[in-house]
Amino acid sequence: MVSVMILRAISLSKSLSSSCRICCRRNISSAESKYAVLIQNDQWHKYLSFSDGFDKESRLQFSRDLLVVNNFVTDGEEKSLMEELTPVLKKMHYEFDHWDDAIHGYRETERLNWNPNNMKIIDRVRKIAFPSETSHIPLVHVLDLAEKGFIKPHIDSVRFCGDIIAGLSLLSSSIMRLVHENEKSKYVDVLLQRRSLYIMTGTARYDFTHELLDKERSIFKNDRVERGRRLSIICRNAPLK
Ligand code: OGA
Ligand code: MN
Repeated sequence: MVSVMILRAISLSKSLSSSCRICCRRNISSAESKYAVLIQNDQWHKYLSFSDGFDKESRLQFSRDLLVVNNFVTDGEEKSLMEELTPVLKKMHYEFDHWDDAIHGYRETERLNWNPNNMKIIDRVRKIAFPSETSHIPLVHVLDLAEKGFIKPHIDSVRFCGDIIAGLSLLSSSIMRLVHENEKSKYVDVLLQRRSLYIMTGTARYDFTHELLDKERSIFKNDRVERGRRLSIICRNAPLK
């Protein structure tokens, strides 16, 4: 719990993230060959929507660094994960009124030990997202956003998180927006369908802020996305040395 809060608090400190980014850069070029699965590059137009600021080459680059796998878990698996998490979350209140928080309308927890069936799902996420030589953070971050909840733009701290962030989206589809840190007109909307997995690395991880849009702004290529309560299960790898 505490470490999650530190993660974002520090991520909002720009000077820190940009100075640390320089030492991480050397790993970015290997992003293309990182995934344990074949990158479904022909699928990206279904879940990425680029602003005009992107040329063809930068679209391709981005599509390698932000991968979405639809239907990564089944209805039954989603149910099983929720059955394990519900008793823990029920004891907590949604936080709405912290004006300086990066997130509005949320409750969150971290989980180390999962029941055997759910552990298999977490292992599947790690296997697909992290190359065998990386060490993952053992605690899994669970973020429960209320229907009215949203996440403000930020970059996860390089101090507490490595170069790969993998998130399962449960209960509701949603839109994640990534905006280039230095060129605000360069942004991408990502359709995160219910039960999909996203894997963020490389330029998407370091050069763009990410945010999760609120219900009113949840529109993908002119189509409204029904945004309800949304729960994400996020696996990260350890900070790079
Ligand atoms: C975060 C974050 C994204 C998500 O907690 O830092 O960006 O998918 N979460 O919930
Ligand atoms: Mn984040």
